[in-house]
Amino acid sequence: MSQNKAAAGKSFYLSTPIYYVNDAPHIGHAYTTVAGDVLTRWHRQRGESVWFLTGTDEHGQKVMRTAEANNVSPQAWVDNLVETAWKPNWRALNIANDDFIRTTEPRHMERVQRFLQSLKDAGHIYAGKYEGPYCVGCEEFKLPGDLIDKDGEKLCPIHSKPIELVNENNWFFRLSAFVEPLLQHYRDNPEACQPESARNEVVSFLESGVNDLSISRSTFDWGIPVPWDKDQVVYVWFDALLNYATAVGLGDDPESAGGKKFAQTWPCDVHLVGKDILRFHAVIWPAMLMAAGLPVPGKIFAHGWLLVGGEKMSKSKLTGIAPSDITDHFGVDAFRYYFLRAIPFGTDGSFSWEDMHARYTSELANDFGNLASRLAAMVQKYCCGVLPAVSHDAGLEATLAATVEKADAAMCALDFQGGINAIMDFCKRVNGYVTEQEPWVLAKDPANQATLEGVLYNTAESLRALAVLLHPVMPATCEILWESLGANKTIGAIGDEQIGNVATWGQLPPGSLVEKSAVLFPRLETAE
Ligand code: ME8
Ligand code: MG
Repeated sequence: MSQNKAAAGKSFYLSTPIYYVNDAPHIGHAYTTVAGDVLTRWHRQRGESVWFLTGTDEHGQKVMRTAEANNVSPQAWVDNLVETAWKPNWRALNIANDDFIRTTEPRHMERVQRFLQSLKDAGHIYAGKYEGPYCVGCEEFKLPGDLIDKDGEKLCPIHSKPIELVNENNWFFRLSAFVEPLLQHYRDNPEACQPESARNEVVSFLESGVNDLSISRSTFDWGIPVPWDKDQVVYVWFDALLNYATAVGLGDDPESAGGKKFAQTWPCDVHLVGKDILRFHAVIWPAMLMAAGLPVPGKIFAHGWLLVGGEKMSKSKLTGIAPSDITDHFGVDAFRYYFLRAIPFGTDGSFSWEDMHARYTSELANDFGNLASRLAAMVQKYCCGVLPAVSHDAGLEATLAATVEKADAAMCALDFQGGINAIMDFCKRVNGYVTEQEPWVLAKDPANQATLEGVLYNTAESLRALAVLLHPVMPATCEILWESLGANKTIGAIGDEQIGNVATWGQLPPGSLVEKSAVLFPRLETAE
């Protein structure tokens, strides 16, 4: 399958939302971006050509007002935060994105204007008047039924903040014309909106009827000018959603670099989003594409929220935990592992320091880290640090083959928890094997040397497989393990290892030098 895709030239294309730069990132943003990174690393290791996009959403009132409150221009505000907070944060978390789009870049703004003009020319845009509630936190026109009533005041249910009333002459997009085609699309392609709860929400929203959408604003100017009406700027969501396509050359001449990139990547295979922005992605965005006659995305996947005190963690509520608060204590790879392992993707979850501590100790330090250090120590002690002859264990080999199949199916279905569990179950199985075989007992009698060496080889091979399978989740740690097995010298770079080849037994060449590495998961300092 993946081979055919590569041959046809279509890349596996995945995007994260582009985040508002009203503040620095918190672990909610990191959750989505790490998930995207793990999935794209997994697909790269399946041998597919991959394109992974993230970026920042820089226009609109929310960002503009934050800049104003800090007495700087919006452009200066976003430039500073992107360079000092967002990009360094993704580097620190080892995010391997292929591109980073900012909506204030000319490449984006020009393509948005061209797209808008083409929709206008095709009759999808008309002049109208918008009167109604707006939440600046969501940057969303709300319906009266969306709001909650608190002491006579209308609040946004997501931000628990008062809405504002907008009364403006705006340009409108004929969104209502796409309700039927969208319903048909989700009926025909159930995988196009996941998980099922998200699809059900979108379908019932569409069935309840959808109004046309105001796509411009006239009361402030921090945005992309509407090409035919310089008194208006493009509504921030209409601008932002287009990033997924502008970043890969939307509307460019097919013979140009942008045009070729577009042909190679579009449609996007997976838009990863939080459930807060599901409707924008599953209703407005595909309607925009349909209006332009472009293919719609393969899948919108809406994951759940990280909660604080039962509510969505958020920048506006100041409940955000910085990723570094966690990585300083547990390390980057444990951070990448924990959220995907602990919370079923698609469900809300609460971060708990105690739970993270417990999983770090039992799953990472004990089950995985100790297995690696025990193997290296035993090869040193019993085989002078040299890997013995290839050996086989039918049980381990069969378990590994089943593990790879299960993990691959789960990962490709965005069931990160299922995928990681399958791999960690194999890790437990290998620990069980070592415990049953008791190499330290075998070592007491030289007559057992061949059996002992067999046990060590089988354990080393199992660790080779674990390093490759866990590499998308914990790249730095798995590279250390890979090097300690000598595999970087004997096999090659771990990133080139293919998932489809992991279960082939006997890849570590006998005679390899196995070295003790740094401890993969150091003992945690006792909680402050
Ligand atoms: O909505 N739990 O940007 P944003 C899990 N600019 N994920 C969370 C989270 C939480 N508590 N908080 C944030 C925007 N996220 C728009 C997007 S896309 C064309 C424009 C993650 O800064 C999650 O992915 O508010 C959520 O959808 C996204 O950050 C919202 O980020
Ligand atoms: Mg938000």
